[in-house]
Parts: sequence; structure tokens; C-alpha cells
Amino acid sequence: MEKLWAGRTDGAISAAAESFNASISFDQKMIRQDITGSMAHAAMLAAQGIIAPAEGDAIIAGLEGILSDLESGALTVDPKAEDVHSFVEGVLTERLGDLGRKLHTARSRNDQVALDVRLYLRDEDEKLKDQLLSLLKTVYEKASETRDFVMPGYTHLQRAQPVTFAHHLLAYAQMFKRDLSWLSDAGKRMNICPLGACALAGTTFDTDRFFTAEKLGFDAPAANSLDAVSDRDFVVEHLALFSQMMMHLSRFCEEIVLWSSWEFGFVTLSDAFTTGSSIMPQKKNPDMAELIRGKTGRVYGDLMGILTTLKGLPLAYNKDMQEDKEALFDAAETVGACLTVFTPMLATLTPKPEAMKKAAGKGFINATDLADYLTKKGVPFRSAYKITGQIVTHCIEKGITLEEMPLTDYKTFSPLFEEDLYTEIDLLTCVKKRVSYGSTGPDSVKTQLADLASFLGLPS
Ligand code: ARG
Repeated sequence: MEKLWAGRTDGAISAAAESFNASISFDQKMIRQDITGSMAHAAMLAAQGIIAPAEGDAIIAGLEGILSDLESGALTVDPKAEDVHSFVEGVLTERLGDLGRKLHTARSRNDQVALDVRLYLRDEDEKLKDQLLSLLKTVYEKASETRDFVMPGYTHLQRAQPVTFAHHLLAYAQMFKRDLSWLSDAGKRMNICPLGACALAGTTFDTDRFFTAEKLGFDAPAANSLDAVSDRDFVVEHLALFSQMMMHLSRFCEEIVLWSSWEFGFVTLSDAFTTGSSIMPQKKNPDMAELIRGKTGRVYGDLMGILTTLKGLPLAYNKDMQEDKEALFDAAETVGACLTVFTPMLATLTPKPEAMKKAAGKGFINATDLADYLTKKGVPFRSAYKITGQIVTHCIEKGITLEEMPLTDYKTFSPLFEEDLYTEIDLLTCVKKRVSYGSTGPDSVKTQLADLASFLGLPS
């Protein structure tokens, strides 16, 4: 295929430079988007009288033919083409002759590639939104089933206060909702059309950039041609968002790894989402959760890569920018692949309420409630805190829990202790008494579930 740019040079590039320069191996992923963009461009050229209406129709029909031949397999991408734009234009020209050579009027690969990446991401965003919604639905279902499962809540990974498993899961629902909202926001900011900015300065042809922007579903054409071809902020923003999505999944996975260990035993994973060991017959390993945690590093790397590539680039287009795509595709596909595995892994995970309760019974996680008990009887919280601390030390020395200490012993610490303290420090009571908005208490969890159900359009 003749080089698009053979003119100033003879196009006889060295074989090493040619393969180094080529992006077809990865940018062919955007071939559908590239063709869609070209169709809109051809329609605009015809509508503006830059090419004849019949020429516009023939080019669009030619592009449609390429698309359907790609789908049927009658046409395959030539790995020797320089990039996806050259390939599509080359095939069109092979099929239509000189007419194919008119398509690139008032356009450059610089605005073309900036358009294709936006269209590609728009499609990826839709898939990720669906995946996040089905993950949220799974979180909702698991949380609905585990409202009475009391477990220790942790700070510093030390047992801190009792919470329910449902409340813990619903914390992740908040994170995934934020991811969804960022996806929509990023999509809105990205929805500006660079097509028609041409190489960098616009064009002498009487184009209608509003026409193409609208036809391609954009809110507006990019207002500055230099920015239109140089801007990769939407790539950076998406990679930051993908990094955050991975961070959320990774934290959840870390907990699943811990919870499924013998030490915790709070959950068991379905065999379908674990592997065994080639040597240790007893092993059931949470490989999927670990791999998702591991892949997080890779997506962070993609973000760092693009930030570093863009840093210091003068306006407008520079070939460095070709490096945006592999990182972006990799990150988008990695997040998608992680969600594909994570959601069913969560759906098939079995919580173990007995193990949670047992863990909650140790570690004095009701000590704050004991201090609150005294505070409600008039002791200043700081003093109540101190007395409770002494009681905990005493219990540790005796090897007993707060529930096991007799009232007579309690009275030696404060005469205000009465029999009702035992109900106050009962773990289920501790959870039930949490009445503040957003707390682990049953009313709050009920509200959180109802909010999530209405967000997802589910009957609550
Ligand atoms: N493959 C190129 C990229 O991904 C397309 C744009 C080429 N533009 C140019 N002026 N060489 O960035």
C-alpha cells in the first residue's frame, strides 16, 4: 500500500523504521469508530458542496461495504498498513479509485485519531457502566441477605466495633456509585468533537464542524483547533478513573483474600473462582482476587505512562501521542476483565455468620459501648473511657470477656454499673443501638439498601 504521506519524501522508509512507526497492530481496535467518523465526514463534505452529493453517497456506501466485509470476514486488516486510518482509506481507494482519494479533504489523521479514541472510549464506557451496575446489583443482593451477620469492624486491622456484614458490603456500593458517576462526568467532558480541526490550524474549506459533531453524537465541536488535536486530557482522566476503579476492586479483593483465609474464615469462595496447589492437596487459593489486586498495579502504570508521555509535549500533534492507545486499551480491557470475574465471584461467595460472630466476641469490640453506658449515666466520656480501659486490662489479665465479668467486679470500677449493662454490651444490641445516619444500625442499613434499590431501579 502506498504511504499516505509519500510526496515530500519518496515514502521509501527503512524496514526497521516502518515497523517501529506503525500502529496498526493496536489501533485496528478502533476500525469501526474510524469508519463511522469517515462516514460523517463524507456526509458533511457533500452537504457543504465540497464534494458532489453522489460522490458523498458513493464514499459512504464504500465505507459501509468495508464495514460489512470486516464483519463477515471477507476483509481482514493488513498488518503491513501503517495505521488504521491509512488502511481504511487505502481499501476505499482500491475499491473506488480516485473518489476514495477525496475522503481526506479538509481532514488530517491528527483530528481523525483524536476522534477515534473518543468514540472508542464512549463505547467502552457504556460497557463498563453496565458492568458496574450489575456489580452494584450483586452487592445489593448480598447485603440484603446479611443484615443480621455481626462481624468485627476494624481500624488498623485491629478489631474495633461491631458492624454487620451488610453494612461493610454497602461501603463498597458507595465506591462503585462514585465510579459510575465519574464515568458519566468523564463521558460528558469528553463529548467534544475534534473532527475538522485538521492538522492543527483548521481548513480553508467551508466545512461545517457542527454538522459532524452532531451527527457523531457530540455536544459541540472543539473550540480551538490546536487544542483539539493536542488534547489527551480525556485519556488521562479515564486512566485516573480506571485506576480508581481498580483501587476499589483491589481493596475489596484484599478483604476477600483475608476473609477466606483459615485465620478469618468469614467467607468461603465458590470452587469456580479458586484454584488448588500443584503440591499442597489441602489448598484452595483465592487467585482471582489476588490477580485483580495485582492487575491494579498495571493500570496505575498505564496512568503514569500517559502522564509522563504528555509532559513537556509542545503543541500541537507529536508522534509521542501514538503511545496513548496501548495503555488506554490495556487499562480499559483490564478493568472490564476484572469486573467480569469479580461480580460472579462475589455473587457465589458464601458468608459464614458463625465465624464472624465468634471473631466479634473477642477483641473487646463492645468496649466503646461500655464507655457510652457510663457516659449516659452522667460520667464524662473521657473518664468513662479511662474506667473502661482499666476494665479491659483487668479482663485480659483474667482471660475473660466483658460479658463474662460479674457485676460485683464491675461495681469495684464504678458504682453506676447495674445488671442492664449486659444487654448494653451484647453485640447485637451494640449494632442495634447505632442510630446515627449512615451507621451500621438496622434502620440505617435499611435506608442504605432502599437507596441502592431505587438507584438500581429495583423493587425494595
Ligand atoms: N497513528 C497515529 C497516532 O496514533 C495517527 C496520527 C498520525 N499523525 C501524524 N501526523 N503522523 O497518533
